Amino acid sequence: MRLATLELEGFRNFAHARLELGDGFTVLWGHNGAGKTNIVEAIYLLATLRSFRTNDLGALVGRDATRAQVVVSGHDPYLDLPTRLAVQLERGSTTTRRLARADDKLVRSAADFYGRLQAVLFTPEDLAVLREGPQQRRQFLDRMVFARERAHIADVQAYERVVRSRNSVLRDDTLHGAALVDMLIPYEHQIAEIGARVWTRRGRLLDDMLPGIERSFAEIYGAEGPQPSTNARQLALSLRYVSPCGSIDEHERAAALLARLVERRELDRMRRTTSVGPHRDDLVVELEGRPVAEFASQGQTRAIILALKLAELELARLHTGAPPLLLLDDVSSELDPPRNALLFERLGALAGQCVLTTTAAEFVRLPEAAACRFVGVDRGRLEPASSAP
Ligand SMILES: Nc1ncnc2c1ncn2[C@@H]1O[C@H](COP(=O)(O)OP(=O)(O)O)[C@@H](O)[C@H]1O
Ligand SMILES: [Mg+2]
Repeated sequence: MRLATLELEGFRNFAHARLELGDGFTVLWGHNGAGKTNIVEAIYLLATLRSFRTNDLGALVGRDATRAQVVVSGHDPYLDLPTRLAVQLERGSTTTRRLARADDKLVRSAADFYGRLQAVLFTPEDLAVLREGPQQRRQFLDRMVFARERAHIADVQAYERVVRSRNSVLRDDTLHGAALVDMLIPYEHQIAEIGARVWTRRGRLLDDMLPGIERSFAEIYGAEGPQPSTNARQLALSLRYVSPCGSIDEHERAAALLARLVERRELDRMRRTTSVGPHRDDLVVELEGRPVAEFASQGQTRAIILALKLAELELARLHTGAPPLLLLDDVSSELDPPRNALLFERLGALAGQCVLTTTAAEFVRLPEAAACRFVGVDRGRLEPASSAP
């Protein structure tokens, strides 16, 4: 969908606000705490029905309001018709009710709402994916898989449930011998069957993205040295999906998982937890053969994440036939100016529309020909500016 306007009511620090979006870049700039990320969060909510900052949607409702509403109107390229998406949050005393509407009709199932607005988000918190633990990396992969295969959401949830069930059997000291095994068997079959699907989807996603990631990283980060250049030696980036089962052919994964679960029963009983399966897998990212968390600079880490996001954009574009919306929160000076300029050139070519936020407009090096508008954000107010501040 091509976005034309975004309207907020009672959302975070915006009592009422309206933002006009056009082709190309919309640059939101303002001081810390002005409300820039809140706007990105509102658009993300319309795309995914979730926030990337909190699981408590009540936090999104303005402090002095009981109800928040975000509405986006735009154009549906498939139907060639105007379209409108709205999400309303009603904060109650214990829970927050979420209502989603498409063209003024209530959409009850989240799965039916997803995908109407396709967005790819990049926030500084994404850097944690490379710096922190495997759980962050698995979630990162799963979120990207969700965007192209809805069935993955249900599988991941079902998988987590069966692993919890197997763990509670392992922790049950009243069970022994054959009785214990009888209780474990059905869970192990389910873990193997669903786990193999989860594993395979993550692996395929990574395989599909790898060429794009490598290309984008080479382009954005270029080679070593002060200036990106195609002549100098490229830094070797490697991404691998690693399972404690080892590397196993797609068709044999369910059987291999089941065999490992059976093998590890005693060990798992001692440890009181399931030690093998996609919940223990990792996305290993290395630069020059060394773990990124220990070896890469801030700028290199950021370039790797951006390369992942660019590859995600490319895939989404292939998948849906239309370029998704790119949300880029907090563009700062972590990339040096030439690399920053290269990044925006790539973004301009890949994304249909791009909403980005920054505290200082000089960090945003837009290509000369790119369509763009600057909007000042100040304590919950938007002020369109005729040129870069
Ligand atoms: N539910 C809410 N109601 C009112 N104001 C809020 C709410 N949640 C956050 N805020 C305010 O929003 C501001 C933070 O906005 P944010 O978009 O994160 O800023 P930035 O421009 O730095 O990205 C803070 O001033 C915070 O107090
Ligand atoms: Mg912010």
